[in-house]
Amino acid sequence: MRLTTILPLLTLPITITATPTPNPTPNKHSKPSRLWATHYNGNVYTLSLSETNLSITHTQKTCGKMPSWLTYDSESHIVYCSDEDGTADPSTHGSLTAYRPGRDGGELHELSTTSTIGGGVDSVIYEVGREKFIAIAHYEGSAVSTFKLPLKQNSPSNQEFHFKMTKPGAVPQQDSPHPHSVFLDPTGSFIVSPDLGADLLRIYSISSSGELTSCPPVNVTFGSGPRHGLFWTDGTDEHSSSSSSSKPTHQREMAAVGKTMMYLVNEIGGTMMVFDVSYARSGCLNLESKQTLTPYPGPGMDPKTNSKSEMPSGATPSEIRLIGDKFYVSVRSDQGFEPNDSMVTLSRNAKDGRVKVDGKSEAWGKVPRTYAVNRVGDLVAIGNQASATVAIVRRDRVSGELGEKVAVLQVGEPGKVGSAEGLSSVIWEE
Ligand SMILES: *[C@@H]1O[C@H](CO)[C@@H](O)[C@H](O)[C@H]1NC(C)=O
Ligand SMILES: *[C@@H]1O[C@H](CO)[C@@H](O)[C@H](O)[C@H]1NC(C)=O
Ligand SMILES: *[C@@H]1O[C@H](CO)[C@@H](O)[C@H](O)[C@H]1NC(C)=O
Repeated sequence: MRLTTILPLLTLPITITATPTPNPTPNKHSKPSRLWATHYNGNVYTLSLSETNLSITHTQKTCGKMPSWLTYDSESHIVYCSDEDGTADPSTHGSLTAYRPGRDGGELHELSTTSTIGGGVDSVIYEVGREKFIAIAHYEGSAVSTFKLPLKQNSPSNQEFHFKMTKPGAVPQQDSPHPHSVFLDPTGSFIVSPDLGADLLRIYSISSSGELTSCPPVNVTFGSGPRHGLFWTDGTDEHSSSSSSSKPTHQREMAAVGKTMMYLVNEIGGTMMVFDVSYARSGCLNLESKQTLTPYPGPGMDPKTNSKSEMPSGATPSEIRLIGDKFYVSVRSDQGFEPNDSMVTLSRNAKDGRVKVDGKSEAWGKVPRTYAVNRVGDLVAIGNQASATVAIVRRDRVSGELGEKVAVLQVGEPGKVGSAEGLSSVIWEE
């Protein structure tokens, strides 16, 4: 059933246990790790990491004019790249390209490509029975679209959802709806898309045919500019053996869910929000806001609420991940380690799921737009956009702390802070 088959696709909170074994001893003869990075210069790079030697092994002009985001389906061994070119104007477009990585070198062999609504950024793969789909958030395109997988050459989208503002936003960046990401709930039955322009969490239920059905969106505080988020679940699954039940797939999975929470970072408001999640009989998700904090350490910080802390002026949270009970939020342009920016570590309280800030560590570059933790959980690859550097830092698997710099590599030319230039994303081949 979907609950088990979706597991390989879920992100770190589920695949890494909360009770890790200590850091493995580095093995001199271990195979190099491979990474891929996208750059707004139109290149996708294959990187190789062997101990402290991080190097570029392939540079490929591909994924349209603005390669923006990579999603790796490790199960079928296919990489998907979204191209952020284009806007909501239907005479423009972006693209989606599927690749199979080469066995040895890791260069990407193009399998198929198709044009999409403009402004494609983050994407997520979802599965219904034996069928797979990919959903894409279109930032400039003010839309969410889906494609059936495997991606066919020039295939049309499966579904498109186009959005319009119903009221003006708080800041010029909120001139139109800007879905910034798409992510799955722990049952694999819902997709949430934070819309930075409209201050909404757009929610879709995934039907048994793979079609998305809109649920009522959830408001976030005016001017927050929601960007990225993730779910946490206690993993209790009382009904997982009832897959032969004659109930519709949806209701069955609703019943199978234990305690579930959602965590969100807001780019414009510089905040992080905590929600209790419940699965409503209506077939939609209920999100109840439980805490809002600033994911940044500060001199005026109230340790109970973090309410006095503020992001430094001009700083914005970007990516969020959860491993065990530690959150990591990358913060762009805080200049916490001048001229470099910061990664902030936060702790999740096991009792009530609330969050407090632990501290910050160095991103070893400017504008850490994305970062990715390897599956073992001992290395973090930080994609610094403006400096166009990929920095590998150690992560302590027991304390969760981010530590020493392992390697830093220039990948393509630096970009101007605040522009769509520079390194756009980095992922591990895992
Ligand atoms: C680093 O790795 C690259 C690619 O694997 C290799 O060509 C290069 O020789 C290595 N450099 C060192 C100093 O080991
Ligand atoms: C969300 O915001 C809109 C516009 O401000 C308002 O009309 C609506 O009632 C809000 N919905 C909820 C559930 O608060
Ligand atoms: C900023 O990061 C670069 C790249 O890793 C590094 O060379 C430099 O020393 C860092 N600067 C500071 C002040 O840490």
